[in-house]
Amino acid sequence: MVSGVQPTGYLHIGNYLGALRQWVLHQEQYENLFFVVDLHAITVPQDPKGLAEATLSAAALFLACGIDPSKSTIFIQSHVKAHVELCWLLNCVTPVNWLEKMIQFKEKARKQGENVSVGLFDYPVLMASDVLLYQADLVPVGEDQQQHLELVRSISKRFNSLYGKKKRILKEPKPLIQGNTSRIMALDDGTSKMSKSSTNDMSRINILDPPNTIQRKIQRCKTDSLMGIVSDPVGRPECTNLLNIYAAFTNQSLTQAEAECREMSWGQFKRVLTDALTTSLEPIQRKYHELRKDEDFLRQILKNGSDYASSIAQVTMQQVKDCMGF
Ligand code: ADP
Ligand code: NA
Repeated sequence: MVSGVQPTGYLHIGNYLGALRQWVLHQEQYENLFFVVDLHAITVPQDPKGLAEATLSAAALFLACGIDPSKSTIFIQSHVKAHVELCWLLNCVTPVNWLEKMIQFKEKARKQGENVSVGLFDYPVLMASDVLLYQADLVPVGEDQQQHLELVRSISKRFNSLYGKKKRILKEPKPLIQGNTSRIMALDDGTSKMSKSSTNDMSRINILDPPNTIQRKIQRCKTDSLMGIVSDPVGRPECTNLLNIYAAFTNQSLTQAEAECREMSWGQFKRVLTDALTTSLEPIQRKYHELRKDEDFLRQILKNGSDYASSIAQVTMQQVKDCMGF
């Protein structure tokens, strides 16, 4: 299984619940490669210093959240050169009109106006190389990534039919769809997803937010004036989202959390939610700050990871190049 996170800001509880915490569970079940996709981050403008810091911070958070380097491979995407190399080869088998159909490209391009890079357009092919390089069977995807994974499968199929003769050179990975609690919404409006790229820091709880910041953000988050804390996705999206977060951080089902909180006032609920968040995040934060004190140790883990990933990638690259005539 392969999965990545972009170093485009500080990781938040949506990334934790939707990715990192799931990855920790997957460690026991699959052979995993988890990486920080810094090459994807530069498809939109990045400040170099900020990118370097966010990349190292994300890698340290993988470890602090419980990814164990003795069970999983952790590395930085740009440290394995084959990602870019395979991307070019796949570019040459990918029709332009496949990329023109990508919803995420159209949305991001609309926001950026005239400064859209070729890289932003080509993002899905780089993603295909991230996955196909390691002959992955599974890719965990949220609903917004399903179109991209379909494209990965199409590129793989097209490559095999153009160059594979009767052999399957590249695998066709399957999506591992997350459950419905995996989508955490922004705190300032219950209808857009919590995201690193929002300019409003009050819209998310970062994994590294100290207790007083968490308290302030929960205090000020958007609520409604109705009585009772219940799940009602259509009528009360904010309430449902907060209850979802509470359920996830107290390891309860939504139904159990609802039974516990149904009679609470907003004030009471916000207090228990703040407590649950600060208590759960505290050990992660402690571990993170320890890791950041010893950068050589962190860099060594990442080097071990990229060495191992490169060795797998080389096998695929050799097969791909052989059948393309290099
Ligand atoms: P972001 O959208 O914050 O920039 P990424 O696109 O880098 O995050 O996604 C990294 C991982 O975190 C992906 O597996 C994605 O599905 C998950 N993720 C991101 N935002 C959320 C969210 N709001 N709720 C649940 N999972 C999320
Ligand atoms: Na994103």
